[in-house]
Amino acid sequence: MSSVLILNGPNLNLLGQRQPEVYGTTTLADIEDMCLTRALALKLDVSFLQSNHEGVMIDAVHAAKGTHGGLIINAGAYTHTSIALMDAVASVELPMVEVHLSNIHAREPFRHVSYLSKVAIGQICGFGAQGYLMALDALAERLVIS
Ligand code: DQA
Repeated sequence: MSSVLILNGPNLNLLGQRQPEVYGTTTLADIEDMCLTRALALKLDVSFLQSNHEGVMIDAVHAAKGTHGGLIINAGAYTHTSIALMDAVASVELPMVEVHLSNIHAREPFRHVSYLSKVAIGQICGFGAQGYLMALDALAERLVIS
C-alpha cells in the first residue's frame, strides 16, 4: 500500500516560532507542503497528523494498520520517554522511519536515548525539514519492493 502517515508529536505545531536556533524557521505547514510535493513525485499518498497527546498518537498508529503502508514519526519528546508509543509501532508491523529536525545525539544526554529507534527501520536526524523528504524517499523504496 503506497500510502504514508506522517505523525508529528508534542510542540511540533509551534515550529517556526519555537527555538528557531535549534529547529529552524520552517513551519509545520511548510513541511507538509514540501512533503506533499515530494510524495506526488514518488507516487505516494501522504496524510498528516500532529498531536500534543501521547494517546492520540498511539490511536493514530493503530488506525494506520490497513490504511497506510508506512509511517514517518517525529515524536518530539515522547521519543525519549514513550515505551507505549514504541509498543504501538511494534504492534502494527508497519515500516517506520524516525525523524528529528535536530541532531539529538549532539544535544543533552537525555535526548540520546530513543525508544522509537528500536522499532524503526532507520533514524534521520539533524537535517531539519529536509529529513522528512529523506524519510519519504526511504519509505518509497521500501514500499515499492515490498
Ligand atoms: C525533536 C527532538 C526532541 O528531542 C525534542 O523533544 C523535540 C523535537 C526534533 O525534531 O529535533 O520536540 O524531535
